[in-house]
Order: sequence, then C-alpha cells, then structure tokens
Amino acid sequence: MLPQETIRHKRDGHDLSREETAAFIAGVTDGAVSEAQAAAFAMAVFFRGMSRNETVDLTLAMRDSGSVLKWDNVDRPIADKHSTGGVGDNVSLMLAPIAAACGLAVPMISGRGLGHTGGTLDKLQSIPGYDIAPDQARFSKVVQDVGCAIVGQTSDLAPADRRLYAIRDVTATVESVPLITASILSKKLAAGLQTLLMDVKVGSGAFMQDIGEARILARSLVDVANGAGVPTVALITDMNQPLADATGNALEVMNCVDFLAGRKTGTRLETVVLAEVAEMLVQAGLASTVEEGRGMARSALSSGRAMETFARMVHALGGPAHVCERPETCLPKAPVMLDVLAPATGYLAACDGRTLGLAVVDMGGGRRKTTATIDHSVGFDRILPLGSAVEKGQAIARVHAASREQADRAGDAFLTSYTIAESAPESSPVIIERI
Ligand code: URA
Repeated sequence: MLPQETIRHKRDGHDLSREETAAFIAGVTDGAVSEAQAAAFAMAVFFRGMSRNETVDLTLAMRDSGSVLKWDNVDRPIADKHSTGGVGDNVSLMLAPIAAACGLAVPMISGRGLGHTGGTLDKLQSIPGYDIAPDQARFSKVVQDVGCAIVGQTSDLAPADRRLYAIRDVTATVESVPLITASILSKKLAAGLQTLLMDVKVGSGAFMQDIGEARILARSLVDVANGAGVPTVALITDMNQPLADATGNALEVMNCVDFLAGRKTGTRLETVVLAEVAEMLVQAGLASTVEEGRGMARSALSSGRAMETFARMVHALGGPAHVCERPETCLPKAPVMLDVLAPATGYLAACDGRTLGLAVVDMGGGRRKTTATIDHSVGFDRILPLGSAVEKGQAIARVHAASREQADRAGDAFLTSYTIAESAPESSPVIIERI
C-alpha cells in the first residue's frame, strides 16, 4: 500500500493491518517513506491512537527493521529492565551486576539523558575508557563472561525507531502511548530478551506526572510486550524526589559503588533495586517468590559478588580495574564543591524533580542540544531525603561545579526546587503499584 494511503487510513480512525504497518515501517527504514510522511503518520497515531494489536504489529515491525540479537552461547536466562527515566535514577548501574551475580544474563541497551532526566550511558561514560559502543562480538563476550554488559544502541538495532524518534522529537509527537510503547519495546525486543521488567516512573522528576498516565503507559508496555512474546511486568515507582542521594553522572557512579559496598542501606534506592532484581529473578524462574529473590539479591551484595561483577564489567569494557576500590582516582572531580544550606528551619517537604534535573543540565551535566558534550563531574550529592528535619544554615546537599559562579547558581536552583515546610510531609511509598 502507498504510504499516503496508510496515513489516510490511520487519520480516518481505522485499524491498520499487520501488512500495512510492516510495509510502512520498511519504508521508514529504507527511506521510501519521506520525513513528511513519517511525521504525518506519527501525528495521525498521536490523535487516533492504536489498538493493542496494532501496537504489537508496530513494535514487531520496528524490532525487525534491524538485527535481533541471539544469545545461543549464553546458558543463563536473558533478562533486562528498563526505566522510563528520572532524576538520580541510577538503578541500572547496580541492578545489572546484582542480577548477573544471581545467575541472570543482562544485555542492557541503555540510552543517553533525555530532557531533565539522566541517562545510564552518560553516567558510564564518566568512567575513563569505558566503551559504550562495543561491536557485537565484544558485547556478546562480556555478557557471556561477566553476566552483564551495559552499552548503547548500535546502528543496526531498531533503525526504524531511530529515524521515527528523531522525527517525533521535532514534530510534537513524542507523547503518544502507542508510539512510546513501540519505541521502547522495539529496542528491548531487538536485544533478544526472554523476560523484561519495566520501571514506569511517576512524579515531578519523571515524564509522567500523574498516576493515571503512568498506569496507562505501564499497562500498554506490559500488554504489548506480552503480546510480542516477552513476558513483562511493570512496577510504577515514585519520582517525586531524586532516587539516589546524588544526581549528576560521575556522582551517580560513585553512589553506585557506595551502594555495592553496602553504604546505602535503608534507602528508597535500595528498596527499588532489591524489588526490581527480585521481580526479574521470579520472572526468569530463578526464585519462586519475590521474597526469595530479594534474599538472593541481598546475599549477592553482602558477599561482594555484585561489586566484583560490576568491576569485571567495567574492566571488560575498557575501564579501569580498580573502579570499585578507588573510584575517586578514576572518576572526574569538579573543581568547586559547596554545601547547599537550608534557608529556614523546618522539614524538607517537596521537591520539583524537573527543576532539579534541569539544574544539572544547566551546569553541563546534560545536553542542551544533541551535539553538546557533557561535563561528567558536575551535579549534587549528599541530598537529604524528603521528610528530613533541617535547621536553618544546615547543609541539605552539596553541589559539584566547574566554577564558584556556577556553584552559586546551581545552589539557588537547588533551593528553588525544594520546599521547606513547618510540618513533615506524609511519607509515601516508593513502589506504588505492580502491573
Ligand atoms: N524513550 C524511548 O526510547 N522512546 C520514546 O518514545 C520515549 C522514551
């Protein structure tokens, strides 16, 4: 069918057939469909939506637009998790090695920061020498030898998504549930997974601000991934404050090393990491209950196996061997460090995660345009959790900046993003729902 007929069909509210969708996506991949036609298609889907079956067809067509990885040489269950993105969300960094230390193989294809949210790849690039774009043979060998490898999307993985995503980005068609679903899942399915865990973030630091929207996206991701043959569970988790007590690339890697060394216990971050590893172990049949899975994850941490797995992954991908023993000698350090002081006595009551995330971008910790280079050293650490009682003049975070002027500006932005109130906020669960 001609691309314009497929667009007309969707514009007029009809369901697309599998063949129609496959032909259109083949055209997106080989260039037979023009940018204007791809944009019109995206806009038609934006307004008309897609049924579950149509979204499965779109996902599979985009997955099959490039190569689909095979893991015949790996004798462990192949599993992954994907987060829809947030601020101080460094879960992937520790989750992959913990899950690998528990017996899973985790070939994790991650992305760069988007908008105000951080990206796992940007964080890993703060480790000198770490190769985020290994060839297929090296990627495969690291997964086989170590159990996990976190890398970027290669050019032959879901190329239709790469083209369509770039067009959506500049035509106001990103925020469409079927398009987001197909975009995320086409890349994940191309990684050859047997099971998938989705972490759908909701709150001021996430793309979904509202639990209703998060539920719709989570339901769509779970139904479409299951429909495409990959058993999938979603956890909806809170993003109304940074998950780690640090945000910024190298600072989040440092935080991950501290976590693996057992220095971040009793935190919301720990709750999410353990819950997600546990779900993955149950999905893969390595644990019979989430409680058992959580116990396996804890023992991988306390025995040091998870930390050793992280160090081996980093070294196998070109980073320094001693990243866990002496991270401060490996990771870039900002020249200026300054405490951010509470302007009043009270309780940390609310955080505007988007403003906080943008403060890191403004320091150069994220990109203002796609070609920008990143300053991996900047950001915030020692961030107190919401609910903390603070005295006027007490440090509530520490800023790492390239200059004193930048530190002052970032400190002000930090204070703008936090509310100090006379009474403590009600505590809210970090894991909100399981779908
Ligand atoms: N992340 C993706 O990979 N695709 C989207 O459409 C949105 C977020």
